[in-house]
Amino acid sequence: MLFDNLEIKEKIDQLRAELNDHNLKYYVLGAPTISDYEFDMKLEELIRLEKEYPEFQDNNSPSKRVGGDITKNFATVKHKYPMLSLSNSYSIDDIRDFDDRVKKTLEAETEYVCELKYDGVAIGITYKEGELFRAITRGDGIQGEDITANVKTIRSIPLKLKGNYPSEFEIRGEIVFPLEQFNKLNEERKTQGEAEFANPRNTAAGTLKLQDSSVVASRGLDCYLYSVYTDDKLFSGHYEAVLAAEDWGFKIPSPRKKYIVKLNSIEAIEDHLHYWDTHRTELPFIIDGIVIKVNNYRQQEMLGFTAKSPRWAVAYKFKTEKVLTKLESVSYQVGRTGAITPVANLTPVELGGTTVKRASLHNQDQIEKLELREGDYVYVEKGGEIIPKIVGVELAKRDVNSTPIVFIQQCPECQTELVRKEGEAQHYCPNENGCKPQIIGKIQHFIGRKMMDIDGLGNETVELLFDNGLIKDISDLYALKKEQILPLERMAEKSAQNMIDGIELSKKVPFERVLFALGIRHVGETVAKKLAKHFASINALSAANFEQLLAVDEIGDKIAESIINYFNDDKNKEILEKLIEAGLNFEAEASAPIKDTLQGKSFVVSGVFETFSRDELKESIEQHGGKVVGSISKKTDYVIAGDNMGPSKLQKAQELGVKIISEQEYKEMIQ
Ligand code: IVH
Repeated sequence: MLFDNLEIKEKIDQLRAELNDHNLKYYVLGAPTISDYEFDMKLEELIRLEKEYPEFQDNNSPSKRVGGDITKNFATVKHKYPMLSLSNSYSIDDIRDFDDRVKKTLEAETEYVCELKYDGVAIGITYKEGELFRAITRGDGIQGEDITANVKTIRSIPLKLKGNYPSEFEIRGEIVFPLEQFNKLNEERKTQGEAEFANPRNTAAGTLKLQDSSVVASRGLDCYLYSVYTDDKLFSGHYEAVLAAEDWGFKIPSPRKKYIVKLNSIEAIEDHLHYWDTHRTELPFIIDGIVIKVNNYRQQEMLGFTAKSPRWAVAYKFKTEKVLTKLESVSYQVGRTGAITPVANLTPVELGGTTVKRASLHNQDQIEKLELREGDYVYVEKGGEIIPKIVGVELAKRDVNSTPIVFIQQCPECQTELVRKEGEAQHYCPNENGCKPQIIGKIQHFIGRKMMDIDGLGNETVELLFDNGLIKDISDLYALKKEQILPLERMAEKSAQNMIDGIELSKKVPFERVLFALGIRHVGETVAKKLAKHFASINALSAANFEQLLAVDEIGDKIAESIINYFNDDKNKEILEKLIEAGLNFEAEASAPIKDTLQGKSFVVSGVFETFSRDELKESIEQHGGKVVGSISKKTDYVIAGDNMGPSKLQKAQELGVKIISEQEYKEMIQ
């Protein structure tokens, strides 16, 4: 053995400590000291070692961040300290009343802490001896659900603590879906032809209840902490406890950015509320108010609780601007994948500084939930999200002769009967290859930046080419001639040449992007990458059966079924043939070497290895620019010898004078 177990354990411990430290620097302190690539390499090494040496497994290893644990049923657990709610107030007068009540009971002055009221999902996380022990949802306040595996994937939540932490305590906070991540997720869903999520809070709640923690890990949730619970009174007040948590490795709300501040006059509180009412839209997450808490723990105790909420705290809720306007009509948009989205056309109205004319109604259920009728006066609201939404109907203004809106049965563009699959919210037009917005949408998707990236061809030109009968599907692009496009509106010699050049250049785009560009339903960027890596060619992919597709990482029933349907369709087969003919990349190139340390050297691999499987070792050689050959010859530079190397190979290597190296020596070579 090249390593004994003690060395392995030391290596694992060292990697864990390093990764924990880098994690803290990146997610908590916002000051990384290594590149993402270096971080990923270390994490990969740790995951590999843990897989190979399960005896060193640790529930709070940084490898838990990538998820993979599956929770079939979330256990119900009783809260040690009940999870109460807050009483709400909507005006500064309410806050003045609160301040008066507090002072009257305490018969003294007091100091307040003002915090953001995060719009997310409440979580209580218990730590024991510096390790994350359990994370429980609020539930009914008395008992919640154990979602520990999912919470561990949230990178700003420490798995192991540092500094002088209490041996056991609970920390509470709010798990939020940062807007950037939320919009990214919706973008991805849009390109995959799936319905978009309506609001970050509900999506965060749904994400936390997913069974597969690796999906949770991929979504990029974050957590803002707002209370520390210890059995012994270790701090004078709430603010001091929160600040201490920073020393234990928690990301706490920033006092510098005024996420948490200590204030001692109602005037200062009023200024603070006003500040956040005007600045809240600049935050990277949604807040729905400010929480005002008496800071001192002794004073908190004196004030006590009502049945539902503490008397020492109050939530000031921002008024969401809401306006009443008329719903003039509902129109229906057809997306690239045939998804039908109902859109409300409104009498234009001012809201939060912009004129609102339209609002998405998402799907049939949404229309039915609101019981909408054409001509109704509806309330329109703009939350933290960008898109305005209809939140209710003013029934007093309803025309008695109006009738409920009936969702369309046929495609508004091609009149094909719509379908709605069981369990799905969205209606679809199934006429993929004959419905104009779907055809144009598919071509527009195909030329996109992350797909074929065709310079000189934009979305409007695609429409122009289609309307002039020059293209009917993506394959027609490759048959376009300059003479055909020159006569088109606003087309000059130079722009026509640019387009032709751009189309020609796109033939060099790698297979994984071509696969994404094809627009197979549910095959987004990531799935396309996985498929390209696994099958390496369109021939292998199109020949794969259901089981073979399911064997690929992250491919489930829905995606597999969609891929099979795609390749079974005659029209698609015809398009693919033309694209192959045109010379697009339908085979994956061998992955480019990450280094050229082993450039020009050939290797034979023999025996069993400690830290690599044979395939991993071969991949590593290729990744470093070396070549793997099957049998030893005079041209072989090295034989890497593992345990149980065949005696004939050994003999041959010795005869030919080929250098025999150990796994350890190989590792040194590539370092
Ligand atoms: S303190 C006993 N602080 O609002 C007081 N809650 O309506 C416990 N929330 O369930 C809550 N931001 O999920 C507190 N800075 C903050 C908060 C906050 C959001 C949520 C929390 C709680 C709900 C109460």
